Amino acid sequence: MTDWHFPPGFIWGTATASYQIEGAVHEDGRGVSIWDTFSHTPGKTLNGDTGDVACDHYHRWPEDIAIMQALNLNGYRFSIAWPRIFPQGRGAVNQKGLDFYSRLVDGLLAAGITPFVTLYHWDLPQALQDEGGGWARRGIVDDFVNYADVVSRALGDRVKYWTTFNEIFVFATQGYLTGEMAPGAPILDLDTFLAAGHHALLAHGRAVPVLRANVPGAQVGIVHYTQAIEAASDAPEDVAAAQRLDGFMNRWYLDPIYKGEYPADMLNGLYAYFRPPIQPGDLDAIRAPLDFQGVNFYERSIVGEGSDLPFINIRYVRPEGEYTAMGWHVYPPGLYDMLTRIQRDYAPKAIYVTENGAAFADEIAPDGSVHDEQRVAYLRGYFQQAARAISDGVPLKGYFVWSLLDNFEWAHGYDKRFGVVYVDYPTQRRIIKDSGYFLAQVAAGTAK
Ligand code: FCB
Repeated sequence: MTDWHFPPGFIWGTATASYQIEGAVHEDGRGVSIWDTFSHTPGKTLNGDTGDVACDHYHRWPEDIAIMQALNLNGYRFSIAWPRIFPQGRGAVNQKGLDFYSRLVDGLLAAGITPFVTLYHWDLPQALQDEGGGWARRGIVDDFVNYADVVSRALGDRVKYWTTFNEIFVFATQGYLTGEMAPGAPILDLDTFLAAGHHALLAHGRAVPVLRANVPGAQVGIVHYTQAIEAASDAPEDVAAAQRLDGFMNRWYLDPIYKGEYPADMLNGLYAYFRPPIQPGDLDAIRAPLDFQGVNFYERSIVGEGSDLPFINIRYVRPEGEYTAMGWHVYPPGLYDMLTRIQRDYAPKAIYVTENGAAFADEIAPDGSVHDEQRVAYLRGYFQQAARAISDGVPLKGYFVWSLLDNFEWAHGYDKRFGVVYVDYPTQRRIIKDSGYFLAQVAAGTAK
């Protein structure tokens, strides 16, 4: 039985990202992105998988919109591939790239689905990477603002919901520090890592007024990776370890946006010998007022002092319980904790869960269906906690499940299936999973 209540007008949707679903990497003048380069570099992705074809969404988007409609969804979060708009990162606009997203937006609106656009979900034009190391170069801020300007002029008459970045924490850390994601180097260079994060935050802040100027009635936000972190014990060193990890993952990106400053404990602690390249005026620009905060939530961790993550000096405690195929602990109350905490500490005007979901080992059953009970149970649990947060006053306005389709899960390739719709890659056939039918009922308010 459901024991939840979602207000009228609540947005139910799914989220995707351009490189993970589109394919068609050589089509209609698209330039090369850092993920093309990275995934084609031997050893970087599982099985050498690439996004060359992915879910072929570039051609199959009408069918994918029809699926969203069948699932009763009224929102869709997707990202724009920067190299489709500017194959070289800046310069001449590739009109065919804009036209693709314009058709997609028209199709969504005709289906009664509100588009939520993300401008940057990690597929940087390779040309900008080659010029001074991508986000490490300060001049990239102007390139991003120019890109945001062009896209919002083209779509702003129809798209009201704009987010600048998806998860600066993740691409700064995995792209510039650990190298698990594109661009994948340099490894363990703290200065480059802090510069990349700072330039992305600044690009965000500088783009906000441009989006407002171009889009009548714009709703502008940013999407953060968030992780609920608890200390393994009351011992001061464990409490400090949890605070360090929280600073590293959460506060380093939330504080500048809402408070106009980087967290002092991090500046004086973990990063004492390093500095983000802040110039006068940067922090004011980064603090541009927003209309909503996007919360991506997958993980909760319990940590103490130790050496599992050497640079941050933490150890992980792995609680008993269920884990997803990514090795992430299933713990729905973590979402409640994160939503209420963001509301308490930062008080955004509105919050959307912009991603939440799980990978499990799905299979097509003999009856041709995909019975993913684990994902159904997972979603039910997290939805319940979202409803609980709403009833406790959190201004949660929508929920986007990651993801619509099974897709290219970055360095994990196609091995990890996150969709509420199964993709049979050899044939590109889509099969709505049981979790998709469940989501359809939740969205229609008829879930039991
Ligand atoms: C998030 C990413 C998204 C997807 C999910 C599983 O960190 O934003 O693209 O990979 O994780």
